[in-house]
Amino acid sequence: MTNKYMYFIANWKMFGGLNSLNSLNRVINFFNKFKKSKFVKIIYCPPNTLLESMSRKLKKSRIDVGAQNCHEQENYGAFTGSINPIMLKSVGAKYVIIGHSENRKMGETDKLINLKIKSTLKSKLKVIFCIGETLKQKRKRMTKKILDSQIKLGLKKIKNKKDILIAYEPVWSIGTGLVPKNNDLLETVKYIKKKVKNYKVLYGGSVSSNNVNQLKLVHNIDGFLIGGASQNSKKFIDIIKKTYN
Ligand code: 13P
Repeated sequence: MTNKYMYFIANWKMFGGLNSLNSLNRVINFFNKFKKSKFVKIIYCPPNTLLESMSRKLKKSRIDVGAQNCHEQENYGAFTGSINPIMLKSVGAKYVIIGHSENRKMGETDKLINLKIKSTLKSKLKVIFCIGETLKQKRKRMTKKILDSQIKLGLKKIKNKKDILIAYEPVWSIGTGLVPKNNDLLETVKYIKKKVKNYKVLYGGSVSSNNVNQLKLVHNIDGFLIGGASQNSKKFIDIIKKTYN
């Protein structure tokens, strides 16, 4: 794993205010000195309220900024409370997370996700496309079927592979401290990569500095989408360091 190109994406979810940006100094300093930095892509996805100030702060670093969701319409419109990809781009976002299970749970459908992916790509932003099964689905051995359908519908009529990262996030592992067994994860990622060739596939769900030594052994993973642990710079840096140890 030592010399593999890996993504480390911080999803801050609905956390963080302006003073949270100070914690990035530690990450910027670490990354400037990190010997393996050419193998590492760091992307911070803060809440929209911090996008602009975070982009400014990270301007001189090689760390990118992304948003956590967007409206499906590419341009302006009368949609109270919504933000389109162009607006995200204008404040420095380069990526958008789409299809996160926390949004699927709120009613986001595969069809809507597909529209969001299309308009994000059209706006020349990259997509972090989340898929994953619930515990109930896992227990019923439906994981592959669910992933199949999320991929098929979410990526319908989309040819662009280089601007989409797939994040496999089993819903039951998000925020629970549970992670899949290495063999299961290896097999699931292999399955996804067979279904949609030439996509990068990341893993997300309770990634921490305590379990990354184990997770990094799953050699077909192209990186991690990190929630809770990414809000703490030290823990986030530890995850990167341990991955390359
Ligand atoms: P946790 O790392 O907090 O489990 O969150 C994972 C996640 O949802 C990232 O998108």
